[in-house]
Amino acid sequence: MVLLLSIIMLLTSTTYSNYLEPDNHIKSATFVSENFEIGPGKIAVKTFLDIEFPKGHIGVKSFDVELVDEDGNSVPLYETYFHHWFAIKYFENISMSTYIEQYHDLRNGIIFQRNQGTCQGYILPHYWGLGSESRGTSSNLPDPFVVELGNPTQIPQGFKEKWLFNIMAIDTRGALHRKGCTECRCNLLNLPKNFYNVTTGIDGKPLSRNYKGGLFCCQDNLQCKLRKDFDAPKRKLSLRYKIRWVDWDEHQVPLKFYILDATDRVRLNGSTSIHDCR
Ligand SMILES: *[C@@H]1O[C@H](CO)[C@@H](O)[C@H](O)[C@H]1NC(C)=O
Ligand SMILES: *[C@@H]1O[C@H](CO)[C@@H](O)[C@H](O)[C@H]1NC(C)=O
Ligand SMILES: *[C@@H]1O[C@H](CO)[C@@H](O)[C@H](O)[C@H]1NC(C)=O
Repeated sequence: MVLLLSIIMLLTSTTYSNYLEPDNHIKSATFVSENFEIGPGKIAVKTFLDIEFPKGHIGVKSFDVELVDEDGNSVPLYETYFHHWFAIKYFENISMSTYIEQYHDLRNGIIFQRNQGTCQGYILPHYWGLGSESRGTSSNLPDPFVVELGNPTQIPQGFKEKWLFNIMAIDTRGALHRKGCTECRCNLLNLPKNFYNVTTGIDGKPLSRNYKGGLFCCQDNLQCKLRKDFDAPKRKLSLRYKIRWVDWDEHQVPLKFYILDATDRVRLNGSTSIHDCR
């Protein structure tokens, strides 16, 4: 019975429940992403393409995310460290949609718009999302500010505006060194033998053998060292996200997201600037 109830709860929260908040024109909907499995000491690095999102020309007021279990309960950071989550905007070539959906190939037919500045590199996305510290932080924008989305004049011809989630979660239940696992220390993880031969860093060059920890050692499905005899069940987790928005009108003031990269040595070629964001 409890199980049945929770399934019904989950189903209701997945549906696109679009309603007006009292006394204003703000709409609101709560969505649940596809789920992923994680177990004690496991790392999950996932990309969920084409997530549910409000349609049309809109202004987003807030975007809040929570990591939840199968019953819809929030999972505490001391059990699953939510290393980061990013909601990333991209334009998808409509005639390649079926291919992209089938093969999850993000190199063809996709234009990323990670922010609205000149440094678009893959480590620099910013609309919504952050690390574990973002939990409980309000993302609400005061009137008249919004994030403008779905403006047909800003979407390239033949493309569709979509969103993806990129996440990293680390299940630290039973971890021998919980802090080390959350810091992705390489010596705590069951890296493949040829890890340093095949892994490249931010600059596209092979990782140095002195690379002791960080993003590149936390790869999907790797296992962090556990305490002896620790056992706990696997879990299926999802992102539950609530978006509040208004339909676009001339009273909205669009905010833009820029990322300034201190390593960008801007050069000029005639009147064209060349960015070298590192
Ligand atoms: C979209 O994809 C099709 C099929 O691969 C290709 O022919 C077309 O040039 C692409 N459109 C753009 C604008 O890149
Ligand atoms: C990795 O590269 C080193 C040289 O840097 C080599 O000695 C070793 O055999 C390689 N290991 C694998 C598994 O390819
Ligand atoms: C500068 O622009 C010229 C003409 O467009 C081009 O041929 C050249 O390769 C550019 N140089 C660099 C460093 O990008």
